[in-house]
Amino acid sequence: MSSIPSRQWVLRSRPTGRPSASDVELVDVAVGSPEPGFVRVQNLVMSVEPYMRGRIGGEATYAEPYPLDEPMLAPTIGRVTASADESIPAGTLVKHEYGWREHALVPASECTVLLHDDLAPADHLGPMGIPGMTAWVGCERIARIESGDVVFVSSAAGAVGSTVVQIAKLRGATVIGSAGSPEKVELVRRLGADAAFDYHDGSVKDLLRAAMAEVGATGLDVYFDNVGGEHLEAAVRVINDHARIALCGMISIYNSATPQPGPNNLIKLVWRRARMEGFLLRDHLDAREEFENRMAEWLHIGAVRPVQTEFGGGIEGAWDAFLGMLDGTATGKAVVPLTGNHVEKDCKTSESGGTISPDKEATR
Ligand SMILES: NC(=O)c1ccc[n+]([C@@H]2O[C@H](COP(=O)([O-])OP(=O)(O)OC[C@H]3O[C@@H](n4cnc5c(N)ncnc54)[C@H](OP(=O)(O)O)[C@@H]3O)[C@@H](O)[C@H]2O)c1
Repeated sequence: MSSIPSRQWVLRSRPTGRPSASDVELVDVAVGSPEPGFVRVQNLVMSVEPYMRGRIGGEATYAEPYPLDEPMLAPTIGRVTASADESIPAGTLVKHEYGWREHALVPASECTVLLHDDLAPADHLGPMGIPGMTAWVGCERIARIESGDVVFVSSAAGAVGSTVVQIAKLRGATVIGSAGSPEKVELVRRLGADAAFDYHDGSVKDLLRAAMAEVGATGLDVYFDNVGGEHLEAAVRVINDHARIALCGMISIYNSATPQPGPNNLIKLVWRRARMEGFLLRDHLDAREEFENRMAEWLHIGAVRPVQTEFGGGIEGAWDAFLGMLDGTATGKAVVPLTGNHVEKDCKTSESGGTISPDKEATR
């Protein structure tokens, strides 16, 4: 079988502060036939995610830095076009990490065959993928959201946050969300949040207080933190007794060149006998099957609506898509389709499904 032409993004330097075009290069390669134990995959759609900023920068986080002068990695959905492993025949839809490229040779052992392949490929990167499962683990295992809880979630129009809003509503909570534009605030409300605010409209502390007054709440039972910084301090200020703070991520500091100050009011955790817990999805992979079955059901009945932004330009547009995602130009899951005719580099946001209601939950 002959080689096929492909393009891939290679990391050339490690940025300090905001990454730029000079940190990466799009290179032409020829992808050969798979060796035994490998498959060749045509990538259909790849994900761009905040944690990639740490891997590009090279600092020691929970994920290994991307090596310099090698193609980067990203969660990706693709179709197997050639196989040298009998467990994954050609034609199979798989999820793998060899994104940032059009075609990839992937060890069969690193491919996950899509169980619910009736869903759109991009759904497997959003609500069925890392963001959806992170939201689910944070809500179910870390914050343990219950009916009647008052829940605040930051980056509520983001990939994780938009799913948290919907899961918390399914659990019967009162939900407040923050996001970075009037359009995103509207979306958060459409997803079911009882109140939402644009954090650019004033201090988060005051905006959160106003949102709590709108829903008749005097304190928070849960804060789901995607952002850190001012949001975290504002939330700690108004926690109830035995509140739970799920530390999922802190995107407000990912591009900071110097260490940022932490909340100045952590003594509140003592006074309120509250729990603040960081978590990583990778420690909860035992829940994958339970999560995927539950989320697939929610998606099928319209109880969770996928929200995603598709960045155009195909593989050429992937780096700008990553920067745009960090800058807040995406709503919901940021994905880059890699097949088809991608002349435009514009991005397009879509929501699908009907209205959500706790009644639609079939099983707990
Ligand atoms: N713990 C884990 O295992 C795990 C797994 C996956 C993700 N995460 C973390 O979860 C968080 C959410 O991830 P995601 O994939 O759903 O990304 P996301 O929330 O969709 O991230 C992009 C959004 O972050 C917001 N943002 C950027 N800079 C901000 C700032 N300075 N202040 C407030 N908001 C800002 C922007 O929305 P606005 O326009 O609303 O500002 C942007 O659209 C991230 O912190 C990520 O690192 C953790």
